[in-house]
Amino acid sequence: MNGERHAAAVTRYYDTHPINEHEILSKVAARGADLDALTENELKDFDQDHYGGYDATERLAAAGDIRRGQVVLDVCCGLGGPARWLAYKIGCKVTGLDLTQSRVDSARRLTERVELSRLVDFVQGDATDMPLPDARFDRVYGQEAWVHIHDKATLLRECRRVIKPGGILAFTDIVSIAPLTGDESAQMADEMQFPSIVTAGHYLDSLEPNGFAVQRHDDLSPAWKDILVGRLEMYRSLKDTTIDRFGLAHFEKWDRMYTAFVGLYVAGKLGGIRVVARAVAH
Ligand SMILES: C[S@@+](CC[C@H](N)C(=O)[O-])C[C@H]1O[C@@H](n2cnc3c(N)ncnc32)[C@H](O)[C@@H]1O
Repeated sequence: MNGERHAAAVTRYYDTHPINEHEILSKVAARGADLDALTENELKDFDQDHYGGYDATERLAAAGDIRRGQVVLDVCCGLGGPARWLAYKIGCKVTGLDLTQSRVDSARRLTERVELSRLVDFVQGDATDMPLPDARFDRVYGQEAWVHIHDKATLLRECRRVIKPGGILAFTDIVSIAPLTGDESAQMADEMQFPSIVTAGHYLDSLEPNGFAVQRHDDLSPAWKDILVGRLEMYRSLKDTTIDRFGLAHFEKWDRMYTAFVGLYVAGKLGGIRVVARAVAH
């Protein structure tokens, strides 16, 4: 698939995602929160679209030494859940970058609702061609999103361009730990919009040529297997709201696709990695 068609497919995927602003606000309201006086502490349980919720974001921030007052970039920020949580918890300033305009619009509205707009802003753009200045950020991070990007070298070069020398890159992502069959790879590419699921080794080998020195990496695979099984149940629990919003055929397609994806974790073919790397001088 060429770049423009892939970008359009990713956008469609997130425009019709079961986790969305409407669904998040319904859940927050069902828990008894007042939507007109919503706090980040109430929102944080529902707006994170990665594995392990805000705890995982805090662990990534600790590994990447994200601190109060720093200027931070979330690459592929989605609805902005991690960006808001880090700004609220740590007091850093976070810019979220995302390809999907509807995600950026929702991220802005949710951020205004919890009154964090002075610390958190959002930019629509492609992570492989970021509309951001050179050497702007102390820290750059991303969670469970870069698997959508085929060209990891260009992505990492862009991260290096926008980070200050000596700054830290910290990310978690989906990786392959055993070979997928041709059919499995095609299904992940065509349906999940994962054009190439790389190994942890591929990521680690790509960092140094693109201006980063790896500081540490952790295998998250065992924990992610259980999280993914729980996530499939969570998506199934959203059956009624997904059908109301996007129709039965969309729910059934999503369920088939996500069952196959989680099956690859259960089969030990997919896993997860957390990487921390320092930007070195050019
Ligand atoms: C699974 S969501 C993760 C969101 C966020 N990291 C979180 O943890 O809540 C993946 C996001 O990556 C974005 N994305 C995919 N490809 C992208 C690209 N090339 N450039 C920027 N964003 C992209 C999608 O639009 C989507 O919002």
